[in-house]
Amino acid sequence: MKTILSGIQPSGKLHLGNYFGAIRQHIKMQEEGDAFYFIANYHSLTSLNNGEELYRNTMDVTLDYLALGMDPERCTFFAQSDVPQVVELSWILGTLTPVSLMEKSVAYKDKVAQGLAANIGLFTYPVLQAADILIYGSNLVPVGADQKQNLEISRDLASRFNHTYNGEYLTIPEPYIVDSVATVPGIDGRKMSKSYGNAINIFDEGKGLKKKVMAIETDSTELEAPKDPDSCNVYALIKLFADKETSDEIAEKYRTGGYGYGHAKKELLALIKDYFDEAREKRKELEQKPDYIHDILREGGRKARERAERIMEPVREATGIVRHFSMEQPLSSR
Ligand code: ADP
Ligand code: TRP
Repeated sequence: MKTILSGIQPSGKLHLGNYFGAIRQHIKMQEEGDAFYFIANYHSLTSLNNGEELYRNTMDVTLDYLALGMDPERCTFFAQSDVPQVVELSWILGTLTPVSLMEKSVAYKDKVAQGLAANIGLFTYPVLQAADILIYGSNLVPVGADQKQNLEISRDLASRFNHTYNGEYLTIPEPYIVDSVATVPGIDGRKMSKSYGNAINIFDEGKGLKKKVMAIETDSTELEAPKDPDSCNVYALIKLFADKETSDEIAEKYRTGGYGYGHAKKELLALIKDYFDEAREKRKELEQKPDYIHDILREGGRKARERAERIMEPVREATGIVRHFSMEQPLSSR
């Protein structure tokens, strides 16, 4: 059976771009193999240095995923930090990583250009991501197109390790680029992103949700005039939520005229409410059960650590890194 793995950073509230670009596929793929999904909290430390906030985000993302359909009975769902062995593997891989490989990272350059501090954690982010992937022997890694380069780096580091230590220790993972959905636009028409302040969050509701939907930027075509659905941000979002018949009907109304952007926004608002209605209810229920949430993460972490140890033992042995505290006999007498 294939091992499927992916992670998401808990660096803020999850939005519609995250849902249609990543989360929806993660949830669907639980059925398709031995799935490992984790909350990448060590990675979030590269851009968030507030303990309370990081912890709260980690719990929020856990609740979001569970409410949206992640099923801990069918996959291993855990927090990255419950497998500290990834940091150990990350160090070992780092010793084989040329600085020039990291210097080519587009994500690093983008983040620094956006104003993030150029710390070593941010610089070596792809090495930790490689460790995340390789430590479970992952075969398939479903991610958005923006993660393609990080996956190339993971493949490269696995090969370097196997070549250096002359064995098949680490499985070379295959990227599974989820591009069924075009980039989801934010309310200002740019890519929806938490760093642009243009996001509609999955669990926004009530007045807050309405305000954001009503603020979606449109052109100034008059109500009576025909409009082009394909160049409209509101319609781009409607298409994600509505079935084909409904979205075709709405497109027809755009083209006919006499249908204003205000009407389209109201339809979008109703579609969003309806689409996430069940998840919203479930999230409220789960919020009342913190012990249950901790049990899920504890059990997920235990399963993930067990798998990680299976990969790490031969890796330690190959590198000559010996953990005397866990050895019953010295190596020389084995
Ligand atoms: P953000 O841009 O808000 O910081 P992240 O970079 O943390 O989001 O993205 C997490 C996942 O969500 C990635 O797999 C990414 O491909 C996907 N994603 C984020 N924004 C969008 C978007 N606007 N459209 C499609 N997918 C997106
Ligand atoms: N870098 C990923 C993102 O920003 C999150 C991530 C961390 C990840 N480790 C991973 C994704 C391992 C896939 C596999 O979305």
